[in-house]
Amino acid sequence: MSSDRIPRHIAIVMDGNGRWARKKGLRRIDGHRAAEKSIHEAVEWCGEKGVQFLTLFAFSTENWKRPRTEVSFIMSLLSSFIRRNIDDLDRRSVKLRAIGRLEALPPGPRADLDAAIERTSRNTGLNLVLALNYGGRAEIVDAARRIAVEVLEGRLAPDGITEESFSSRMYLPEMPPPDLVIRTSGEQRISNFLLWESAYSEFVFPEVLWPDFSKTHLDEALAVYSARDRRFGGLADGEDS
Ligand code: IPE
Ligand code: IPE
Ligand code: MG
Repeated sequence: MSSDRIPRHIAIVMDGNGRWARKKGLRRIDGHRAAEKSIHEAVEWCGEKGVQFLTLFAFSTENWKRPRTEVSFIMSLLSSFIRRNIDDLDRRSVKLRAIGRLEALPPGPRADLDAAIERTSRNTGLNLVLALNYGGRAEIVDAARRIAVEVLEGRLAPDGITEESFSSRMYLPEMPPPDLVIRTSGEQRISNFLLWESAYSEFVFPEVLWPDFSKTHLDEALAVYSARDRRFGGLADGEDS
């Protein structure tokens, strides 16, 4: 398999924690706790393969609808995840980033996140992007607001609003669009993830629940991805009319 088939950016909807826990007779939060191991697998695998960006959907703008106890558990898990893993991530030269309306995260987790982002900011390995209080619609709305301000202040002309200028006002403009989006647990929907960026992504929907996800599933997803013919609206390689 040639290395040009390695996706530059893999984005994962880590779904199925609750169902994993229920199947074992545990509480939903035990499923969230068990998710950490799968994150290690994904980070290691991406490091080994030379993937440049790994985006993990950890909390959506809609996930606030869940019971307060579950939401606060997930937020405290964010802090403990960072504290437990920051040394190891730094040693692996991982550069931690985040996308989403981060200002609405509770102050404690937000401070841990900011500190980890700052500490790893000069690393040159895998870009690990956590999507937190992230919504694809919110991201597009936030970009539109920034553009509106610039137009109002005369810094941008209306015909300067292009796909490129829009892209450059997304949360992480230097992030390439995901080549491959994986959603675990068998659900086949986007649930407001990377709406703008996934316009030409390849999608894979393994049945495995996120806490059982391992490098083997990534190998399988890569094999499926490698066999896909990405045309971007054009024709297949070597084909003409
Ligand atoms: C994904 O697992 C994690 C988050 C949304 C935070 P779920 O909690 O959605 O698990 P299921 O879908 O209920 O099994
Ligand atoms: C998407 O999963 C969000 C995350 C994995 C963080 P959900 O479990 O929230 O999505 P729906 O509600 O099943 O669409
Ligand atoms: Mg779910």
